[in-house]
Amino acid sequence: MNTINIRAFVNKEKDINYPLWHPYSNINKNINHMLNIVRGEGVYLYDTNGKRYLDAASGLWNVTLGYGNEAINSSIIEQLDTLSYCSLFENTNPTAVLAAKTIKNMLPEYFKKIFFTCSGSESVELAIKLMREYWFHMGKKDKNIIISLADSYHGTYYGSMSVSGIEREHLNGFVPLVGDIEFFKPGVCNKCKENSEYPNCKLDCLRAMEAFIRNNEERIAGIVLEPLLASKGVTILSEKYIKSVQELCNQYNILLAVDEVAVGFYRTGSAFYFQRFNLKPDMVCMAKGINSGYLPLGAVAICDDICNLYMGGDEALIHGSTQAGNLLACAASIATLKQYTEMNISENVLSNGKYLIDQLRSRILRQKNVGDIRGQGLIIGIDLVKDKTCKTSLEVEKIVMIKEYLKRRGLITYMSDTGITLLPMLIVEKSHVDFIVEVIEEIFNTVVY
Ligand SMILES: Cc1ncc(COP(=O)(O)O)c(C=O)c1O
Repeated sequence: MNTINIRAFVNKEKDINYPLWHPYSNINKNINHMLNIVRGEGVYLYDTNGKRYLDAASGLWNVTLGYGNEAINSSIIEQLDTLSYCSLFENTNPTAVLAAKTIKNMLPEYFKKIFFTCSGSESVELAIKLMREYWFHMGKKDKNIIISLADSYHGTYYGSMSVSGIEREHLNGFVPLVGDIEFFKPGVCNKCKENSEYPNCKLDCLRAMEAFIRNNEERIAGIVLEPLLASKGVTILSEKYIKSVQELCNQYNILLAVDEVAVGFYRTGSAFYFQRFNLKPDMVCMAKGINSGYLPLGAVAICDDICNLYMGGDEALIHGSTQAGNLLACAASIATLKQYTEMNISENVLSNGKYLIDQLRSRILRQKNVGDIRGQGLIIGIDLVKDKTCKTSLEVEKIVMIKEYLKRRGLITYMSDTGITLLPMLIVEKSHVDFIVEVIEEIFNTVVY
């Protein structure tokens, strides 16, 4: 066997004169093993040496239609030549209106308004504010507790960070976080101790949340639901659990906001993931795939009940940021959403997503370091474990090294604490999938870690 020791790839030197502090990073981040990217075309990125990489992370899960997409470029340029900026605080304009209308048309009719933001974090931030203010205006000031899921990720602004259940231990220095937030364990069938298969299970995973809600009936403002735990290695919630969360919301008068930042805009095949479960959320938080990552943009779709409450009074909603609904970002969104429809992107996501997961399962699932492979459409998690029987995750350092190896081989992936996450672009083709699988399979045949 031709073995390569990937430890050799991880250079430990640091450059103290380097000016950037990178997101989610140690200030001394070792930049020597970061890619220095200068060009992009379709599903590929190119570094300063002209080396090509297949981007199976879609940028940061957002570049759905590829780099240098002509229609998106043209739309942005046309807008740039007409009007580069228009504040939505005081004005309206046709571009922002058309972008909002297009998004609204992808959703059930009861969504009355689209509120633009600059990011997924800001979308969640707004959803939480609306949850609390809704009940405030309804005369229920104490109905302000927000429920979220352990292992969920919702962003890094104060509110969105406070409702994120993942890696809470890193938030200790930011205390006090936004208060009155309660976390409950997500319902995940393959982690179930009960071992009885859906739909015959007793739904033990929901018991604690249900009991808490029952005991605090008048206090719960809303539930923020990440319907698929994307940052936790693509943890898939059971259908029954998701539907039961909706039922609890109905039964106890609780607002439901689904966070579709990662899975919205066809990532899983359907326009929005919640639509598969016939949920009736009150708000939908979006970003990422909204404009294929060309410019910062997020949005919250808001239901008629919430809108009607504000329509009845003179109260302004105190939320907004200078660049929210930026015209260039909206122009990129219009061109992106049009292509999703014209290309019938859903079909490509479902067929190549199935091909990718089938190939991975048939070629690497038997490996002793592969615990599980799961996904929906084009978001797929590969659990890397020390050993199949114990299912303990491989050490993070080893996962980092594997990711480094893949990069060396021209494949960019996303890493979670449970393994490798693949989020190829929605325009991915069969030949790209073959390359992804071939390089990942190599890890188990050639790499010592
Ligand atoms: C589910 C979810 N919500 C919110 C966010 C935060 O979005 P942003 O990074 O645009 O602020 C993310 C980002 O990955 C996400 O995956």
